[in-house]
Amino acid sequence: MSIVEQVNQQLRRVARIVNKVTPVTGAPPCRLGIDLGTADVVLIACDEGGNPHAAFLEWADVVRDGVVLDYFGAIHIVKKLVEKAERKLGCRFTSASTSYPPGTDPYACINVLKAANLELTGMRDEPSVVAQLLQIDHGAVVDIGGGTTGISVVQNGQVIYSADEPTGGRHVTLTLAGNRRISYEEAEAIKRGPDAAHILPIIQPVFEKMATIIKNHIAGYSVDQLYLSGGTCCFPGADQVFAAELPDLEVILPSEPLYLTPLAIAINQNTESSDART
Ligand SMILES: Nc1ncnc2c1ncn2[C@@H]1O[C@H](COP(=O)(O)OP(=O)(O)OP(=O)(O)O)[C@@H](O)[C@H]1O
Ligand SMILES: [Mg+2]
Repeated sequence: MSIVEQVNQQLRRVARIVNKVTPVTGAPPCRLGIDLGTADVVLIACDEGGNPHAAFLEWADVVRDGVVLDYFGAIHIVKKLVEKAERKLGCRFTSASTSYPPGTDPYACINVLKAANLELTGMRDEPSVVAQLLQIDHGAVVDIGGGTTGISVVQNGQVIYSADEPTGGRHVTLTLAGNRRISYEEAEAIKRGPDAAHILPIIQPVFEKMATIIKNHIAGYSVDQLYLSGGTCCFPGADQVFAAELPDLEVILPSEPLYLTPLAIAINQNTESSDART
């Protein structure tokens, strides 16, 4: 089984168990990962083999592109999610891994964890943890989150270039809200709902523009494969728009891309920084 298939199995498991509080008896010892994002805070607890046993997501507005806007709000959410994981797994967590968008201050997230009484066990930038999890030797990692799109180039297993662009899922939702003359909340519900495919013609130009931005960033690098990450890539057909707009690249969409970075964080036990932002 390929590494992408293995990770896909773990991601599908995260999707099945996310926000399920029913206690698990006899869970193996787990390590914790916490992803403080612009749109949400995600906690995943995995065993040594990388199998997820608890996952909790809370939509939140406490962080913007690696900058903690609401420090006490962020600590409160982290503590709450850790307590849920502890109740579910019947254990105490005293440490966790986290991550940060390239070019931002890692201490923003570290300080939130410390204030939530968690020692740091792993800390690397987001594209590096994803590249490590997927064992990417050469390629591009594109993380389309709520507020930003992170574009990174990996060569010989190392991130050698990273950039952040101010486009993401929020932009997609605003486009739909403007087109349909509905509220942001209504548009967000449609975007994430069962009939999302019907609105592709309205928001396709946003994805096409993202593809152009990606193309410009990776021009000049030898890249054949583009790995998608981030919740915005859950939108049905988004990967096909990227594949059509970037015909020279193989576009790889993992299952449940919303959970790829948090899973990579939970599995990462490395504290190296390899920030290659230009
Ligand atoms: N099923 C879905 N279809 C389309 N978009 C989705 C879906 N699920 C989540 N999203 C979008 O994904 C975005 C959140 O993704 P993610 O959790 O990767 O962002 P984040 O890490 O919080 O943000 P950032 O990386 O910008 O800090 C939101 O804009 C949300 O609307
Ligand atoms: Mg993110």
